[in-house]
Amino acid sequence: AGDAPRLTVLGTGYLGATHAVAMAELGFDVTGVDTDQAKVDALQAGKVPFYEPGLPELLEKNLATGRLRFTTDVASAVAQGDVHFVCVGTPQQRTSHAANLAYVEAATTAVARHLTKDAVIVGKSTVPVGTAARLRELVAREAPAGVDVELVWNPEFLREGKAVGDTLHPDRIVLGGVSARSEAVLRTVYATPIAEGSPVVVTDLPTAELVKVSANAFLATKISFINAIAGVCEAAGADVTVLADALGHDVRIGRQFLDAGLGFGGGCLPKDIRALMHRANELGAHRAAGLLQQVDEINMGQRERVIDMALEACGGSVLNRRIGVLGAAFKPLTDDVRDSPALNVAAALHLRGAQVTVYDPEAGDTARRLFPTLSYATSVDEAVEGADVVLVLTEWDQFLGEDPARLAPLTHRARVIDARGKLSAEAWRTAGWDFTGLGRAAA
Ligand code: UDX
Repeated sequence: AGDAPRLTVLGTGYLGATHAVAMAELGFDVTGVDTDQAKVDALQAGKVPFYEPGLPELLEKNLATGRLRFTTDVASAVAQGDVHFVCVGTPQQRTSHAANLAYVEAATTAVARHLTKDAVIVGKSTVPVGTAARLRELVAREAPAGVDVELVWNPEFLREGKAVGDTLHPDRIVLGGVSARSEAVLRTVYATPIAEGSPVVVTDLPTAELVKVSANAFLATKISFINAIAGVCEAAGADVTVLADALGHDVRIGRQFLDAGLGFGGGCLPKDIRALMHRANELGAHRAAGLLQQVDEINMGQRERVIDMALEACGGSVLNRRIGVLGAAFKPLTDDVRDSPALNVAAALHLRGAQVTVYDPEAGDTARRLFPTLSYATSVDEAVEGADVVLVLTEWDQFLGEDPARLAPLTHRARVIDARGKLSAEAWRTAGWDFTGLGRAAA
């Protein structure tokens, strides 16, 4: 439609690339902007620079319609747009737990300076509470006189591996700090998901910012809770996988995010809880910070626990032992290895002198870039070949589908540690494996 708002998306990482493609899919004219020429070239050529199921097909389809394009030319993209989504990253600072806001500030400044007409700037990046109010002041300083520009906050909750579905069918749409005009614009942009039942929560800027980080903090807390209970289960000879199923039947609790194991990693949960911890302390909310500190410690402790289990399985030392590691990605269905518990464990065992061979169906290349000194296999068989112990660190379906009876003879000693709680202890033990699981009783 001629009067539909034209959209720009600043930042074409996991969040921005998916958002740009999804908005084009909804029928809008979308320009994705990034400072990284290689990323822009790849996307413009129809290639998604990371593994995300369903996204390549949708990218190609929407590039072909002419509604979607990618550029490094922020000035002309912004000049033509009506709604500008800020989707750049907010990584953890090198020297503290705080979020690095340099990219958000740079992107917002660039948009503000290049505005030529009335516009809405929509922050989607995950930021510490209070950031949006400061960005509003920045926009007021930087925008040309005479343009009417509003900055609002609309956090994004997408999961990697399910990014397309999460963007097109969000659990909720949070609109922070909107006026009647910008609310109407965003309701137009999100008309399809709203029509399909996504609830809309209209609120102020700080609440909108906090909804996002609290959601991630809650998910992280749920995982660390079950991991803490897993420790009790192990000590008491109970089985945390059965316990989690039983807990999950209570609708107030729910079964999701109660998988005990190696804990959470990735580009969001770890850095987001640390940033919230830092911000809560700044605000004097020390109890919240203390809770999150425990969540983080329990989570990191799971990695130590698995390292200890591997040491134990090898009789106290892994020096020169062969360890087959199945999984490098921080979770299945992604090639993302940022803060990956699996790679962390693999690297720690390598440092202790083990010969570690890692196999991951998608993340081998990204893992190799980060940890070039580990050995990488191109198949499960190659990874477990001659192993003294096999570690299952990411629960890819492919691993769960393996026949333990076929794998056992390939190893030096048929010993497996299931750090994700998804293997059948009974099936592996029947096939002759010495099976240990996090949070599960010994045989
Ligand atoms: C998360 C949030 O889910 C998403 O809403 C937010 O926008 C970004 O952060 P993502 O990082 O893609 O998404 O991963 P998620 O699926 O949440 O998993 C996070 C980590 O928790 C993974 O390492 C996963 O292995 C771990 N996890 C998850 C568990 O250890 N146990 C569980 O029960 C669930």
